[in-house]
Amino acid sequence: MVSKESKTQAVINLCQRRGFVFPAGDLYGSFAGFFDYGPLGVELKRNVQASWWNRFVLGREDMLGLDGAVLTHPRIWKASGHVDAFNDPLVQCKKCKHRFRADHLIEEELKESVDGISEEKLNAFLSEHKLVCPDCKGALSEAKNFNLMFKTSVGATEDNYAYLRPETAQVIFTNFKYLHQIGRKQLPFGIAQAGRSFRNEISPRNFVFRGREFEQMEIEFFVHPDKLDDCPDFDAVSKRKALFCTEKHQKDGEDGQKMTFGDAIKKKIVQTKWHAYWLAEALDWFASLGLTKLRLRQHRSDELSHYAKETWDVEYDYPEWGWKELMGIANRTDFDLKQHSKESGKELAVFDESTKQKVVPHVIEPSFGLDRLLFTLLLDAFTEKKGKDDSGKEETKVLLKLHESIAPVPLAVFPLMKKDGLAEKAWEIYVKLKKQNPAIVYDESGSIGKRYARMDEAGTPKCVTVDHQTLQDGTVTIRDRDSGEQKRVKSDSIKT
Ligand code: GAP
Repeated sequence: MVSKESKTQAVINLCQRRGFVFPAGDLYGSFAGFFDYGPLGVELKRNVQASWWNRFVLGREDMLGLDGAVLTHPRIWKASGHVDAFNDPLVQCKKCKHRFRADHLIEEELKESVDGISEEKLNAFLSEHKLVCPDCKGALSEAKNFNLMFKTSVGATEDNYAYLRPETAQVIFTNFKYLHQIGRKQLPFGIAQAGRSFRNEISPRNFVFRGREFEQMEIEFFVHPDKLDDCPDFDAVSKRKALFCTEKHQKDGEDGQKMTFGDAIKKKIVQTKWHAYWLAEALDWFASLGLTKLRLRQHRSDELSHYAKETWDVEYDYPEWGWKELMGIANRTDFDLKQHSKESGKELAVFDESTKQKVVPHVIEPSFGLDRLLFTLLLDAFTEKKGKDDSGKEETKVLLKLHESIAPVPLAVFPLMKKDGLAEKAWEIYVKLKKQNPAIVYDESGSIGKRYARMDEAGTPKCVTVDHQTLQDGTVTIRDRDSGEQKRVKSDSIKT
């Protein structure tokens, strides 16, 4: 970093300054944990989501798409276990009354991960280390479970209540049998959904990394219970390598070990081939967006969610926070379908053609968080370099080296200057190119250096400049964001 602020803070500042994403509801102040996406952010978000949808839904023969309701029946969440178990540990300062998430407080004070450990153990930690309120040093209450679901009422009576879904997954499970019937898919197959989820986080923090309203892109992949190792696609990924951080590595304080997915299965580090396949696929998709600083971290047995038999997080090595969860891929077994079957009284088993058996499938769940991913992509792409402004004075320039497939503005067209018919020519070229790709922009205001700098900060991979030579031979310059190199090309050869 050239500048003094942390990279994370520099990216948050850029997000606000250029309108990628910023705290919601500025006019009236806002509740913490809610964000609005501005023009650049909304395009980035749509591009990333479209890339995910194209690859994992439209690009596959074994996937069905879904866009389910956000306000959901309370019995869904009773059955799924969220009413009883979707809690975070809350402590309150007895003096200033501020509230904190007990596990985060311990992690910050003692630099030790206690994610998912029991209320009892947390309280033992709090009293053993005599932790006090970080704001006023007052004494803390005991940690108590706080349910993270938002509740609201439906219709003209307060008695009918609903929950805002805290994950998109359950809406997939409740539709499973119906989609299996109408979707004409045989096991194994998946159902994918991208949409909003809501969690009443005790202390939302780290910008959009942990919000109260966010988007998830989830797949529930249904497999015959005896066929979790019968994965025809595994061979195609078995030679790919990843950094695996097992429970043992974590106990030994190590980052992990690089190995192939084939070896991870052979050594029983990952228990089933379908699980390993989805881990490999997730990493490959991230790599296609330019994100490679990743590892796979196994959930410790004391942090597994109530529904999971085995979970691996894909983690990114964040500049100030170190390794943190970007997404998770869990083996949810038949937990959810069986729970919904019990609660609703309806059978959720399906007929499996290959074995002629009626089975309740097991589920591998790749669960991506869109907002967290966008922030990670921005952090990863953020680059500073020394440069000169128009008057020749040294300044720090910002480049967002976003992958060109997701850049909010794929290309910008400029006239070198407004006069001599250059603006008219540039506009003509712009209108033609916009038919190829409507996301391109035209800019004629300010010096050419300022316009390049504005586009570099927005992550625009290419800028086309129209100059006097264009009027003579139809060529323009095309400038590459990362190298700053300019080439002359025929304007009608440009593809966006
Ligand atoms: N259906 C499984 C599930 O929801 P999760 O680990 O709680 O699992 C999956 O969430 C992903 O959703 C996370 O890895 C993260 O990317 C995203 N996510 C979860 N809580 C979030 C929050 N409060 N703010 C932003 N993203 C969040």
